[in-house]
Amino acid sequence: MTDEDLKKFLTDSLNNENAPDRVFVINYLKGQPIPLQFLDVGSGTGNMYLTLKNSMLQFVYVGVDKTSKMVNFSKKRFPEEKSMFIQGDIYDLKFPDRMWKVVYCRHVLDHLLGYEKALTELARVCSDCLIICLLKPLADKQEIKVIGKPPTLTKPGEFSEHFLNTYPRKPFMEKLNQLGFSILVDQLIQVGGFFKFYHLIIARRTL
Ligand SMILES: C[S@@+](CC[C@H](N)C(=O)[O-])C[C@H]1O[C@@H](n2cnc3c(N)ncnc32)[C@H](O)[C@@H]1O
Repeated sequence: MTDEDLKKFLTDSLNNENAPDRVFVINYLKGQPIPLQFLDVGSGTGNMYLTLKNSMLQFVYVGVDKTSKMVNFSKKRFPEEKSMFIQGDIYDLKFPDRMWKVVYCRHVLDHLLGYEKALTELARVCSDCLIICLLKPLADKQEIKVIGKPPTLTKPGEFSEHFLNTYPRKPFMEKLNQLGFSILVDQLIQVGGFFKFYHLIIARRTL
């Protein structure tokens, strides 16, 4: 993706800083102790950073993304906050256990082949509130769709939106419970467009 492509990436009303699921998250977080310690995993072009900035909430933010282009784009987009965007992998986050009060991950798990390992890592670094937004709502049946170019045609180490998965609901929720979390929000957020609904899950650490 060029910088021009990135400028257009996730700028529509279903995904930009005012997307309905992001507004829901901000309203939910309004009651939480500040400053919010907010880790955004798979931060993309930095839209959630902008949502937080516009919210007037006090926060400390770090965005982690696997793709150097995303990280560099976000650094350029928010030049005053350079240190807040870093390159990293959802499978191996370079933070101690339970370092972050809020761990947020939007539209990333859907694109991985399986969610278990990534969810475990997100939970490991989270001390309180784990927020997952899925592009495809959890369902009874698993569906793995192959889209775009196969990963062998992309640069090694860079992200390819090769998969678009629906995960089965029961094991996903059970996994969150096993990881020590209770589900507080389990909601489909109406967004219209092709996907119609995003699935927002907010889980709090109980163990
Ligand atoms: C569809 S975009 C969503 C971006 C952002 N969360 C948002 O909603 O605006 C998915 C992002 O996940 C990142 N990503 C994919 N695999 C990743 C991994 N293994 N570790 C960290 N980030 C990853 C991609 O580079 C991309 O920026």
